[in-house]
Amino acid sequence: MIIVYESKTGFTKKYAQMLADRTKFRCLNVKEILKSNSDEDVIFLGWLKAGEIQGLSKLRKRNIRIKAVCVTGLARIAEPSPEAVIERNNIKNIPFFYLRGGCLPVNELKGIDKIMMKMFVKMLKSRKNKDEELIESINHIENGYDGVEEKNLEPVLKWLEDKA
Ligand SMILES: Cc1cc2nc3c(=O)[nH]c(=O)nc-3n(C[C@H](O)[C@H](O)[C@H](O)COP(=O)(O)O)c2cc1C
Repeated sequence: MIIVYESKTGFTKKYAQMLADRTKFRCLNVKEILKSNSDEDVIFLGWLKAGEIQGLSKLRKRNIRIKAVCVTGLARIAEPSPEAVIERNNIKNIPFFYLRGGCLPVNELKGIDKIMMKMFVKMLKSRKNKDEELIESINHIENGYDGVEEKNLEPVLKWLEDKA
């Protein structure tokens, strides 16, 4: 088994490296695995961008055997919902784990990501009834947030243990 990740701002990479430390599996990013001739089974970690798991389609095009998909995102649970993420990314038959990631302050993002997040936070701010979770999301996007915690990997480690 090998760990493969796609990460733009480093939060997913942190989880991938933590998982590699715990399992002693090799850890490569998507570019590296595509350059290699590895035909090992893969635990994939990718980040969510508007509900789409980044990096996954690149592995699929190469018929890489993906045994589990771990997804990082900003919200407490996968947004818009775990079911919608599974459906949209066509991973119904693959074990799925959501790991809370993090974000840089929106002003430190670049290009299209910055534009998208600015629009998203504006939309959140325009909502009339703001609950505690919504206020938290606005705060995280504007000021940055790091939700990466080793304990979030426990379900992944348990799945690996159970299948060993
Ligand atoms: C343009 C953009 C769109 C995003 N869309 C989502 C989303 O749909 N759901 C979610 O939970 N998080 C979303 N996020 C948050 C990222 O998935 C989260 O910050 C992730 O942990 C970043 O991983 P990375 O540091 O490895 O790149 C989005 C972030 C950006 C910049």
